[in-house]
Amino acid sequence: MKNRLQRIINPKTGHTVMLAIDHPYFQGQVSNLSNIRESIWPLLPYSDAVMLTRGTLRNSMDTGMPTPVVLRVSGGASILKDDLSDEEITVSMREAVRLNASAVALSVYVGAPHEKQTLMSLSKLVNEGEEYGMPVLAVTAVGREMVRDARYLGLATRIAAELGAHIVKTYYCENFEKVVEGCPVPIVIAGGKKIPEEEALKNVYEAIQAGASGCDYGRNIFQSEFSVPMIRAVRSIVQENYTADEALELFNSLKTGK
Ligand code: 5RP
Repeated sequence: MKNRLQRIINPKTGHTVMLAIDHPYFQGQVSNLSNIRESIWPLLPYSDAVMLTRGTLRNSMDTGMPTPVVLRVSGGASILKDDLSDEEITVSMREAVRLNASAVALSVYVGAPHEKQTLMSLSKLVNEGEEYGMPVLAVTAVGREMVRDARYLGLATRIAAELGAHIVKTYYCENFEKVVEGCPVPIVIAGGKKIPEEEALKNVYEAIQAGASGCDYGRNIFQSEFSVPMIRAVRSIVQENYTADEALELFNSLKTGK
């Protein structure tokens, strides 16, 4: 368990830059995830871990890829349905071990119609994960009607940690230090829809200052016109103590090739 966790979260810094590319599991086609070799492979050397599905791992990754894998093992809903929370576990723990995953990930929907189902899936994964030494990352997914504030995200992340999640992923929000304070396990932030790079970098910086262990950004990296400069700028904040302004300067100089 500890060895797997240390593959994801650098023990020297206590931080991680995860790259999330699991979106098609409920969104279908997603821009810049059609040709993974072209859009994602160049980002892997700058990622401490990559979060993806079994399908992407099987179809689009090189067997020699050294980047640790966080395997998305929940699914069953699609964006065509109103209720995204109707998810179950899609991959067995045995299969996750066979695929050499460093952690498994699922979404929990606190306050959504299938709250109990997703929380019980988390508990089941944690029970199985303990048997195999496999960490579980809980994504505190936000239903359409849920407000992304510190009160709600604090509640959802704490519930995930109480049920045994080893890492929790959530959204950045105002007063994020309150979310971190109330959650006894490492927190990484998702990025959400694509926003300007400057803003996305500021969110990473503020989350790290508030005590987050890193980020698990997806669209704000792979949908950037300059995705390699962007992940390198994110990395400079998370792993090299850059400020948001210094990271933006790095981004601008890398994108212009200076
Ligand atoms: C979907 C996920 C995604 O991995 C997550 O949303 C991160 O990607 P982005 O930064 O694009 O939001 O867990 O449920």
